[in-house]
Amino acid sequence: MTDEVEPLAIEGAVAVVTGGASGIGRCIARALLGRGAAVVIADVEEPALAATVRELSSLGPVSGVRTDVTDEASTAALADSVWARHGRCDLLFLNAGVTSGGGGLPWQQEPNDWRWCLGVNSIGVGIGVSTFVPRMIEDGRPGQVVITSSKDGGIAPVPTASVYAASKAAVTCFTEALHHNLIAQGTALRASVFYPSGGLMDTGLYTAARNRPPELARTGPGTGRTGMTFDELRAVVAKATGKDAPVADLDAMAELVLDGVAARRFVIARDLDQSAELLHRRADAIARGDAPPLSGLLG
Ligand SMILES: NC(=O)c1ccc[n+]([C@@H]2O[C@H](COP(=O)([O-])OP(=O)(O)OC[C@H]3O[C@@H](n4cnc5c(N)ncnc54)[C@H](O)[C@@H]3O)[C@@H](O)[C@H]2O)c1
Repeated sequence: MTDEVEPLAIEGAVAVVTGGASGIGRCIARALLGRGAAVVIADVEEPALAATVRELSSLGPVSGVRTDVTDEASTAALADSVWARHGRCDLLFLNAGVTSGGGGLPWQQEPNDWRWCLGVNSIGVGIGVSTFVPRMIEDGRPGQVVITSSKDGGIAPVPTASVYAASKAAVTCFTEALHHNLIAQGTALRASVFYPSGGLMDTGLYTAARNRPPELARTGPGTGRTGMTFDELRAVVAKATGKDAPVADLDAMAELVLDGVAARRFVIARDLDQSAELLHRRADAIARGDAPPLSGLLG
């Protein structure tokens, strides 16, 4: 089926960005404001949310709604407040995410690691879609649902981050199903899966445990680190690979995301040629009945 769809205007659009108080989401919010959109930032971390809204408010209409994406009532309250304030949502960025943290072998992951990580990264995306998309479809306006996945899982699993990879594989798969159904149902909406890439990212992901609910704490001795600074991460990577890794320019990445949204691209990622080679090797191995080759270092 050919999907003929008009480019999307970012200027004048109403955008919601989950996980927008930090890192990649904050850069997407900034880029949206720079292109003339109105932005609602939804994040669970109240002080960071308030600080980000303050920081970005000189750039355009931005507001914050404290939201826990794992909670249906909280997400429904977010949608109610977006429609009350703006009357619509055109661009939905489901970007909030956490790592289960600390690496460890797959059989050392605790049930609470799964509950927390998939709760935010996968179920949180599902709740966002179930809450917003029916209202967006009913409005009948062209729009885009952009789901932040990761090459770790979305393309190939990094073996030391097995639960995180599973959570991101889940949303990659879901976004594809969402996209085709949005077309088949004759809606004016489309979906995109976004793979952040281009080097190490100086974001809060490595201290994601700051937002881990106490009831989902680890119960055993743990599998390793619970958080590290970006500089510590760089040092770990440099030691493991013997060289300094490049650092991604998050503002340039956010502009790339908006270019992808405007063009209504399904896959939004920078270095797809590198992923293509890996995907071919994976597909060939699977078609032979073999395990796909290892992607990344073993712990
Ligand atoms: N940083 C990377 O290297 C990288 C690579 C690939 C994909 N990603 C993905 O990019 C997205 C953004 O991550 P980031 O690197 O900017 O990290 P970040 O920690 O800087 O931002 C994530 C945001 O999500 C929020 N959040 C966490 N739990 C939440 C919840 N229950 N409800 C609402 N908000 C919640 C946090 O408060 C934070 O503001 C995530 O989905 C992450 O998995 C990151």
